[in-house]
Amino acid sequence: MQEELQRIRRETLERMAGIVSEAELNSVQQEVFGKNGRLTTILRTMGQLSKERRAAMGAAVNEVKKELEVRLSEIRAALKQKAQEQRFAREALDVTEAADFALPRGALHPMTQTYRTIRDALIGMGFSMFDGPEIELDDNNFTLLNLPLDHPARDMQDTFYINDKVLLRTHTSPCEIRALQTIKPPFRLIMPGRVFRVDEVDATHYPIFMQIEGFVVDRNLSLANLKGTLDSFIHAVFGKDIKTRLRPSYFPFTEPSAELDMSCTICGGKGCRVCKGTGWIELLGCGVTNPHEIMNCGYDPKEWTGIAFGIGVDRVTSLKYGISDIRIEYENDARFLKQF
Ligand code: DAH
Repeated sequence: MQEELQRIRRETLERMAGIVSEAELNSVQQEVFGKNGRLTTILRTMGQLSKERRAAMGAAVNEVKKELEVRLSEIRAALKQKAQEQRFAREALDVTEAADFALPRGALHPMTQTYRTIRDALIGMGFSMFDGPEIELDDNNFTLLNLPLDHPARDMQDTFYINDKVLLRTHTSPCEIRALQTIKPPFRLIMPGRVFRVDEVDATHYPIFMQIEGFVVDRNLSLANLKGTLDSFIHAVFGKDIKTRLRPSYFPFTEPSAELDMSCTICGGKGCRVCKGTGWIELLGCGVTNPHEIMNCGYDPKEWTGIAFGIGVDRVTSLKYGISDIRIEYENDARFLKQF
């Protein structure tokens, strides 16, 4: 029996030396200490021994049992430790590592760039900002601007009416009325904003678009002042080589009225498809403020004169960047915007 005990001890220690997993450890434990394990079996058979031998054998078995149990729990602890170290190594974070935090950079919308170039050029000439509402009185949008009651622009087909007296402004020109009603002349104002017209969306029409109104009221203003003002910001947007001309036109709120053409940005004035062979591109409407408008706002047109212009920001932008479809300027597709 002593021999059997020593064999169990030796063989168990040998087996334990090669253990690499908790499952192996469990099965060795079962083989030795389990219900039918080798040591359990020895303990069970000890009842057959004489009293003296049983005492001696009992002490020997207990010693082996204790030794093996201690070894077992050492190995269990070592396996646990190793598993934890492996997990730590796997989950380790280098908190000092340089991270790629670079966020994709945005840029200003091309229309914003155009708008700011025009605005900055005008501010350099002593203009200030003035704001009017998008929901306007019919009076400000039409009547006081000298648009007669039967003017075609008042048609429901062209204007979003909210009720008989209120509408979505069709241009930024009603800001002129608000300026004259609230600020004492002389003044020089930039009045940018959204305007609205009933239009089917296509390559050249959009029902909401951006305008910039320029409005100067002072004594003795003339077309020459107007031309000089327009040239200075057109040169800022398109470069010094651009030529401009005023062509007679008609707007109810200006007299005389003109449209400003600039030399074609594509062919430089020789004539091409974009300028339809003329060498000129129509850019904006402008004029000397009609005395009726000045009078409608309570000022004496013999003393006060005005010059004014209205620009479509999308049009200037498409001419500057060669954009052939107005829709992409308003739809904010990132693939388009990324190019600016
Ligand atoms: N309000 C006009 C439009 O939307 C543009 C315009 C023309 C504005 C002549 C002006 C101007 O101030 O003098 O078509």
